[in-house]
Amino acid sequence: MLEKNEVLNTEIAKIAEVAGYLWIKGWAEYNGGNISVNVTPAVEDECQKMTPIADKISLPAVMGHLKDNVFYVTGTGKRMRYVSSSPWENGSLIRISHDGTYYEIIYKNPIRPTSELPSHLSMHNYLRSIGRKNNVVLHTHPTDLIALSHSQKWLDSDAITNMLWSMIPECRIITPKGLGVVPYEIPGTMDLANATIEQLKNHDIVFWEKHGILATGIDVVDCFDVIDTLSKSAQIYLNARMAGFTPEGMTETQLDDLVTAFHL
Ligand code: 13P
Ligand code: ZN
Repeated sequence: MLEKNEVLNTEIAKIAEVAGYLWIKGWAEYNGGNISVNVTPAVEDECQKMTPIADKISLPAVMGHLKDNVFYVTGTGKRMRYVSSSPWENGSLIRISHDGTYYEIIYKNPIRPTSELPSHLSMHNYLRSIGRKNNVVLHTHPTDLIALSHSQKWLDSDAITNMLWSMIPECRIITPKGLGVVPYEIPGTMDLANATIEQLKNHDIVFWEKHGILATGIDVVDCFDVIDTLSKSAQIYLNARMAGFTPEGMTETQLDDLVTAFHL
């Protein structure tokens, strides 16, 4: 009885909470953004027996580290503001097959998963393969960060990371691995998925040129907070520029002192 599964319900409530923030923030125009959360530990026994409610769908690559795993995934074309109010009408549980080659929707309505599923699952699969416990992939369209991705200057991982870090101490503390950058690719493609995985080798957050941002983590609220902090830094930079000056930014010494103080 998944309806009465409290661990699952708590996770879905957190996804709904975050979907609401994405809309309020103005990062989720139309169907912008998507969320996937690995809920396998919450549903394992129940979900292995469940009968699929839609046809098998082949995966574009074998997801060998996600065998029998179950994910809540937002639906393609669905609006975040409605994911927030009705998560089961705007997303579904999918189960990866035992051989990792296809998935089936098992609950609650046959809502087709996000077009970015190749990127999400490739990221989950890669993170599992290297032993990271990240359960969440959150993709959204923050206006300020996307604006920066329209300049070649900021499409360099070190340049964007150092600039954002230097706007407020919290950014250096909360995003210690900085941002990976993926040059523009067509949304929903395996090229985008593969380029994203490459960046995950050294980062938890990936910037998609002229498109948006992706965060991976253990907790969906935490993923939102990380992106929110980066967006805050971007706003400070852009606000200063709009006021007619280039912000000084914290010095290298000030940033390095944080590494020592917070054991980063
Ligand atoms: P979906 O509606 O398929 O999730 O696509 C939204 C999006 O942001 C694509 O990158
Ligand atoms: Zn997008």
